[in-house]
Amino acid sequence: MKKYIFGNWKMYLDHNESVALANTLADKIQKSNDYEVAVFPSLLSLLEVKNILGDKGNIGAQNCTWVSKGAYTGEVSAYILASVGCEYVLVGHSERRHVFGESNDDVRKKLEAVLDAGLTPVLCIGETEEDRTADKAQYRLKRQLNKALDGLTVSADKIIFAYEPVWAIGTGNPCSPADAEDVHGFIKAEVKNYIKGEAKVIYGGSVSPDNVSSFLELDMVDGVLVGGASVKSDEFLKMLKITEKNN
Ligand code: PGA
Repeated sequence: MKKYIFGNWKMYLDHNESVALANTLADKIQKSNDYEVAVFPSLLSLLEVKNILGDKGNIGAQNCTWVSKGAYTGEVSAYILASVGCEYVLVGHSERRHVFGESNDDVRKKLEAVLDAGLTPVLCIGETEEDRTADKAQYRLKRQLNKALDGLTVSADKIIFAYEPVWAIGTGNPCSPADAEDVHGFIKAEVKNYIKGEAKVIYGGSVSPDNVSSFLELDMVDGVLVGGASVKSDEFLKMLKITEKNN
């Protein structure tokens, strides 16, 4: 089964830095049947990064709005993203939920908008530290999945799920691979209650060159969503070395 290596550049790089990183990656990314590489630059740099990477890597957006067109000053729709060749959109990333107050209802509307535009949503879910201490991690994941998927008519192969425990994002404290295996199994089983097919679930939260293999080798882990380490070219390139092994 193909595995995904996604780099979420967040708001770390300005346009020139994004172009420079894309050029470095374009020289080094090997096309592989076993792995798919995609990066999620800032909206402003998305088109140029896409042109630089060509067919070596795909492009995703970090966010979009739920309406498709009209008088929505300052917003960017999934249709606009599709029109520049974007493939993926992160939906419900923890920073959107927790810094910008996106609700489960907002996430649902964005999920539908991304699917309507023919793009693949990367639906991010994950429990907070507070949930974890209160033994509510499964409750949180169940609730986020229920709100996103209940009544949705789509098959699982049209969505990528990202398990991103909030306490592991940007902290240098990743989920253990054993726990990720268990939680991904739980998410895959839970998704079956709503939509048909086997869900693809990638892991995100302090993924680094040192631990990336321990996630990618797991049966239940379909890939990784890398934040901070994906904007450091040496670190991301070390991770991409994995894609060369089986070629
Ligand atoms: P991190 O971020 O790798 O910096 O922990 C992951 C993410 O937010 O997608």
